[in-house]
Amino acid sequence: MTQETVTLVDNRTGTSYELPVLEGSLGPSVIDIRKLYNETGHFTFDPGYTSTGSCESKITFIDGDEGVLLHRGYAIEDLAEHSNFLEVCYLLLYGDLPTPDQRQQFEDTITHHTMVHEQLTAFYRGFRRDAHPMAILCGVTGALSAFYHDSTDIEDPYHRMVASHRLVAKIPTIAAMAFKYSIGQPFVYPRNDLSYAENFLQMLFAVPCEPYKVNPVVAKAMDRLLILHADHEQNASTSTVRLAGSSGANPFACIAAGIASLWGPAHGGANEAVLKMLQEIGSKDRIPEFIARAKDKNDSFRLMGFGHRVYKNFDPRAQVMRRACHEVLGELGIKNEPLLDIAMELERIALQDDYFIEKKLYPNVDFYSGIILKAIGLPTSMFTVLFAVARTVGWVAQWKEMIEDPSQKIGRPRQLYTGAAKRPFRPLNERA
Ligand code: CMC
Repeated sequence: MTQETVTLVDNRTGTSYELPVLEGSLGPSVIDIRKLYNETGHFTFDPGYTSTGSCESKITFIDGDEGVLLHRGYAIEDLAEHSNFLEVCYLLLYGDLPTPDQRQQFEDTITHHTMVHEQLTAFYRGFRRDAHPMAILCGVTGALSAFYHDSTDIEDPYHRMVASHRLVAKIPTIAAMAFKYSIGQPFVYPRNDLSYAENFLQMLFAVPCEPYKVNPVVAKAMDRLLILHADHEQNASTSTVRLAGSSGANPFACIAAGIASLWGPAHGGANEAVLKMLQEIGSKDRIPEFIARAKDKNDSFRLMGFGHRVYKNFDPRAQVMRRACHEVLGELGIKNEPLLDIAMELERIALQDDYFIEKKLYPNVDFYSGIILKAIGLPTSMFTVLFAVARTVGWVAQWKEMIEDPSQKIGRPRQLYTGAAKRPFRPLNERA
């Protein structure tokens, strides 16, 4: 990193301050304000962190204007085309693509961590049958710290490694169990002869009374979907994981915090919201009505699956997902899917509309992922769960990077206080 500076002048006092400018390997430079408060007595104010870099990272790079997403330098399009999810997991966790031996060993390790403690099955029974699977996923993932004491010492590199492997390996099992519980079917154990995506599908869809055959097209689509959601820089849930982890909390608790943050409709909950919106629209002729609502300042309605905090041109994941979506529907022989027809028409109209063009609102990854998930037989309530399964490796990689950074300290933002100034306590009988 080279050291340029920018000058900050306090017009009230005429004092000027030199602030270092840090250059990363790609992307905009950042102004280092770590000493700002000590030197100037001011905090910065950036609600929503639209101009704030919260950490240094080597994992993922995004150029929102150019629609670029790189993991450890590799383009997401190349990874989706030529790699597989476990290889991408290795890349995110360890910094480079594995050699054949490393890949074999990693696959073996993850495969042999996919079972969960048998007592966890009893834990599930405490949830109501109609609980949202994200509620179950969040609760059970947090509870892993009560089951795996031998991997919660974050100071111990071996504990950190085992916790990382356990989280990546067990999250599909936990997610599939949440699904099975909600539909009243028996839990299905993992199978070590299957790939990560195939095993996930069989845990979701197999039943004990007949053999289950994985559809290779569906397995490929699932694997790609997992790759496309694996990591995305310092988004809300990843920042939540880092913030939770910065206090020294154990990794299982941190990932549960990430799951909670992901659940919101502005973030991972959007894929579920997209399907609900398409169902609400119901037919192509009602699209203009919904476009008008999305543009109306007095209506809180937004087109779900459109817009992104960082991508202001196109979301590269959405382009891969759009192709995958058509492939899956084609290969599964799903023709005339009304929701897809509405989605395609909505996309066409919105991309030509001045409002969406001016505000740079393009379809994001969630716009298409919901349609794929619906086609492979998952209910909408499971959509965000799928996102969480994929993103777990990103959260773990980011958590691990933070813990292993010697300059890491607890995250503790400040605020612009606009509440009451100090005032005397009023006894109850004096309050009107
Ligand atoms: N429909 C209609 N108008 C929109 C939309 C939308 N989907 N998104 C943004 N706008 C408008 C917004 O009203 C605002 O208008 P104005 O400047 O007149 O006030 C302008 O565009 C900028 O919006 P913003 O809310 O300031 O932008 P943001 O960067 O804070 O929000 C976002 C990004 C993704 C939360 C937002 O675009 C949104 O709510 N989209 C719908 C939900 C969605 O699809 N989320 C998934 C994100 S991708 C998956 C992930 O990474 O989690």
